Amino acid sequence: MSGSESTKLAELAKRRGFFFPSNGAYGGVAGFYTYGPEGAALKRHLEDAWRDRFTVREGNQEIEAPTIMPEAVFEASGHLEGFDDMLVECAECGESHRADHLVEDDTAVEDAESLSIPEVEELIREHELVCPSCGAALAGEPVEEFNLMFETTIGPGSGQTGYMRPETAQGIFVEFPLLAEYARNQLPFGVTQIGPAYRNEISPRKGVVRVREFTQAELELFVNPETNEPDLSRVADIELTLYPIGNQREEGTEYLETTVGAAVEEGIIASEWVAYYLGIAQEWYERIGVDTDRFRFRQHLPGERAHYASDCWDAEAELGGDWIEIAGFAYRGDYDLAKHAEHSGEEFTVFEQYDEPLHAERATVDPDMSYLGPEFGGEAGEIAEALERLAKRDRTAFEGETVSVDVEGEPYEIPTEKTGFSVEEVTEAGEHVTPHVVEPSFGVGRTLYTLLVHAYREDEVDDEPRTYLALDPEMAPTTVGVFPLMDRDGLGERARELLAALREAGFEATYDDSGNIGRRYRRQDEVGTPFCVTVDYESLESETVTVRERDSTEQARVPIDELVAVLGGLRDGDRSFEAIAEEYEHQELSAGTENAAE
Ligand code: GAP
Repeated sequence: MSGSESTKLAELAKRRGFFFPSNGAYGGVAGFYTYGPEGAALKRHLEDAWRDRFTVREGNQEIEAPTIMPEAVFEASGHLEGFDDMLVECAECGESHRADHLVEDDTAVEDAESLSIPEVEELIREHELVCPSCGAALAGEPVEEFNLMFETTIGPGSGQTGYMRPETAQGIFVEFPLLAEYARNQLPFGVTQIGPAYRNEISPRKGVVRVREFTQAELELFVNPETNEPDLSRVADIELTLYPIGNQREEGTEYLETTVGAAVEEGIIASEWVAYYLGIAQEWYERIGVDTDRFRFRQHLPGERAHYASDCWDAEAELGGDWIEIAGFAYRGDYDLAKHAEHSGEEFTVFEQYDEPLHAERATVDPDMSYLGPEFGGEAGEIAEALERLAKRDRTAFEGETVSVDVEGEPYEIPTEKTGFSVEEVTEAGEHVTPHVVEPSFGVGRTLYTLLVHAYREDEVDDEPRTYLALDPEMAPTTVGVFPLMDRDGLGERARELLAALREAGFEATYDDSGNIGRRYRRQDEVGTPFCVTVDYESLESETVTVRERDSTEQARVPIDELVAVLGGLRDGDRSFEAIAEEYEHQELSAGTENAAE
């Protein structure tokens, strides 16, 4: 899709009610979009499909947490300290811009986000970059870190500082102790959440691609890194287009076409869990209608990774000539749970029982404080703790007549008999494990936009130009349009009866009796409705209707009492339209039929 087609799609999105800038009556505020009726339906189908794949079929649990969280959460998570973008302000017009994006837009540098502030300042100077709003030179303007979180006050008065969550993930991490209990403390277990996230983006752009409020669909999988492995056999043969770090650094290097299994074997994808989810996601994207020829997984460069991630791959779609991140697959290690444990003082672990209880020897001390106290005064407590640590570390240190320990650089000699040293037989039933987190994180708005861009088509029908969205039938906002050929002689009544029956059977159906049939088809084509049913005079005689398929514009005449089954099979992908056309009477269309006047 070219730039001009992107513009046409943006126009279509607004005109037909997919999405449009919010608050237009008050001049609008950049970065906020409203999904209209078609967009909200498409978004709902997309979220349902995600939930079906990543929650239900993977056996995970879904939760819904608040979107405002107290400051302590983001102190612990590192977002207060490190969730920043680079900002440069134009001295002339006062407009703020994302400095790394200016560099990427106007130089050959592809990944300025991974550069340091001085490097970005230098590139602005070297390439004489100017303010996109007023054209003034930006060389010499300071580049600063700008925290992306929206701050708010909780409660009246001075209240408590809170933040709109910048990722849904934190709502899952902070509840880990309870969630682990619900999962009966058995690893691995996964928790999902679909909901809004907020980022005060410096320069929102590209419609719903970079906005300040957006929906994320995230899965946080908690695993024991020592013992849990994914079932790679399930995804081993799935083909991926990968863009690993090595290929990104070597100029002119192509992508790597490989399978999940081969990528793991060759060490291209380090984490088996990340590889597993790339495979599952590849299948899912294909199923919902992403064009896999315009899709890849790109590995993050080291400087580009979020503060919590040790390895990360992005799903990227080609949209209007640019590669846009639509999801991230990160190995977050124990970063999140360890930080929340440290800051809250709560246990963020799972007690994992051993298959067999473990019998072991444990060295302990029980120092004689009636000796240590008078002998060492204020240092006695610390000496006792040092003895405890030493016993765990090196029991041979207690073999002589005296034991030496260091407390804040000072050596102390203690008679061994005063340490109460002993070795006990212990039985350990299990151990406390801080799980590692594997996180597939999807942007719903960006995925929705990808479906629209990849489905956008222009062709000619009966010598007239047509625009249509070749959306997957399960994703399309409306599954079936019902039309009477004309609203007279009982055709309208019969069509409305049919509409009610289809809705009762669970179809998202719409009714249209205005304008000629061709125009009604065009209206449905433009919003991606895959099937249209027309009630004509023959319908009244033979209890049949025509079913017309959007992409081919082919038609078949189907008995009304089989319509629900036929449309259900088509929507769910169980039957093709060719098979339907072969089974039922295929309607040969002569030129001009679709556009014929009533
Ligand atoms: N919990 C991990 C996380 O939030 P992320 O890569 O920052 O990772 C995940 O965000 C996804 O959310 C992205 O891949 C993208 O699809 C979407 N996203 C992020 N910022 C966005 C924005 N400003 N507007 C729209 N979508 C956004």
